Amino acid sequence: MTGTTGPGADWWRQAVVYQVYPRSFADANGDGTGDLAGITRRIPHLVDLGVDAVWLSPFYPSALADGGYDVDDHRDVDPTIGTLADFDAMVTALHAAGLKLIVDIVPNHSSNRHPWFQAALAAGPGSPERERYVFRHGADGPPTDWRASFGGPTWEPVGDDWWYLHMFAPEQPDWNWDHPDVREDHERTLRFWADRGVDGFRIDVAHYLTKDLTGPLPTQAEIEARTVPEGTHPFDDRDDVHEVYRSWRKLFDEYDPPRMAVAEAVVPTHRRPRYASADGLGQAFNFDLLEADFDAGRFRTVVEQNLDLARAAGSTSTWVLSNHDVVRHPSRYGLPTGTSLPAWLMSDGTDPAADEERGLRRARAATAFLLALPGCAYLYQGEELGLPEVADLPGVVLQDPTWTRSLGTAKGRDGCRVPLPWSSSGSSFGFGPDGGRPAHLPQPPWSGRFAVEAQAADAASTLAFYRAAIARRRELVTGEELEFLDSPDGVVAFARPGGWVCTTNFTTSAVPLPEGEVLLSSSGDPAGGGLTELPGETTVWVRRAG
Ligand code: GLC
Repeated sequence: MTGTTGPGADWWRQAVVYQVYPRSFADANGDGTGDLAGITRRIPHLVDLGVDAVWLSPFYPSALADGGYDVDDHRDVDPTIGTLADFDAMVTALHAAGLKLIVDIVPNHSSNRHPWFQAALAAGPGSPERERYVFRHGADGPPTDWRASFGGPTWEPVGDDWWYLHMFAPEQPDWNWDHPDVREDHERTLRFWADRGVDGFRIDVAHYLTKDLTGPLPTQAEIEARTVPEGTHPFDDRDDVHEVYRSWRKLFDEYDPPRMAVAEAVVPTHRRPRYASADGLGQAFNFDLLEADFDAGRFRTVVEQNLDLARAAGSTSTWVLSNHDVVRHPSRYGLPTGTSLPAWLMSDGTDPAADEERGLRRARAATAFLLALPGCAYLYQGEELGLPEVADLPGVVLQDPTWTRSLGTAKGRDGCRVPLPWSSSGSSFGFGPDGGRPAHLPQPPWSGRFAVEAQAADAASTLAFYRAAIARRRELVTGEELEFLDSPDGVVAFARPGGWVCTTNFTTSAVPLPEGEVLLSSSGDPAGGGLTELPGETTVWVRRAG
């Protein structure tokens, strides 16, 4: 039976999804690494926050060459994170609390410890085992000069002039998607988790997977100059990748309700609807707000473009300000426009110093803007606390392969992956039990100030604001329409069905408060009590008079 039109099939269209990076969320057993039991224990936090679903970053067995995105076995749980029984207990508890679960699937590559990769290395050149990955001969060096994400070449030598392809770290060999074993094994993985009650899948680097390395291959310079025709690139955003997603969609639709999926597809904007189409994955990330400066014109354009794109795909748009791959947005917004974030991280966050107060004010305004939009909001753990980036992690503690692959010239993404503070004091600020092993990435001494415990008691805290905003959204959001209204320069206002308006003042000076009943304010009292004007860098939701 398919459930494509049954009740609840569309739960994801306007959901608020909370991303959990499991090793840094909550550590139940005190070994310094977050775990599934920790997530289960903290479900009340997610319920109080009011989110609809959790997206869980990889929790599979992994040597952590890339934060778990190097997967040894896609159908198991890493022993430091828990067991399959812990997973089942977590799913049951999430569902009992009315929350859905989306898990991360990493289909472009396995880890180099995967049994099939180990078998490929052992079997040698020309063997059927090597066919499942992308091995090439190169007597005079690597087959191409391509550069991998995180730095260094995409080809790793394995002896006898043979090389294998890895678009990311050398510990992440790319699969050969022309091979039926690879396709079958991934379908088995999707069914494995869907049968265990998972409601959806986040598809990692969905724009890679299929490859064609038969023709004359472009150089790195040609790739960067974008001279390769769209759709037939040797490895990026190929048209034939959608055959994979069409077959997955059939699999997802065998379930009731159908399993949802969201693509992480870093492609030119006009190619995004292909990933979000109803006969494919169904939804795609849009990182345009995340990449935008805090600017009225830019925010409005991003919304207009993405609503059109979502409509073209028959999907809803996604909205994101932070995730596990980027500098947390309160820090970004506290830096002068145009600051190079990698260079800022290399200065330990000192050059220039971020204006924390301003960054947080803008972050809250942007969040209220985002939560008023039609579509799906993806929040990243800790943003509900207004956490800034931990920019001064020393090189010796860094785990991101970017650090070693760049020979210590780029810090990478650990500053947004530092374990969460739950209590104001204690050896790990409540991340683990008091006296347990220190958190796997050091927590800064200022963590306690941002702790859930400290903010829960403060009606003007960022946590109180997130709770109020998500609760209001639940009450107010009835349709998917949005109409921009005339507004002064530097101010963006749009009306939503049901007679309410979201207005963001991107300037630094106050403007008149829109007429009507204030339902939410991003600064001060979240209920907008006492507001007589709309302050600078603030968003309000107002029910229109009459
Ligand atoms: C995605 C993930 C990132 C990971 C990469 C390789 O971009 O979000 O964290 O490093 O894929 O799997």
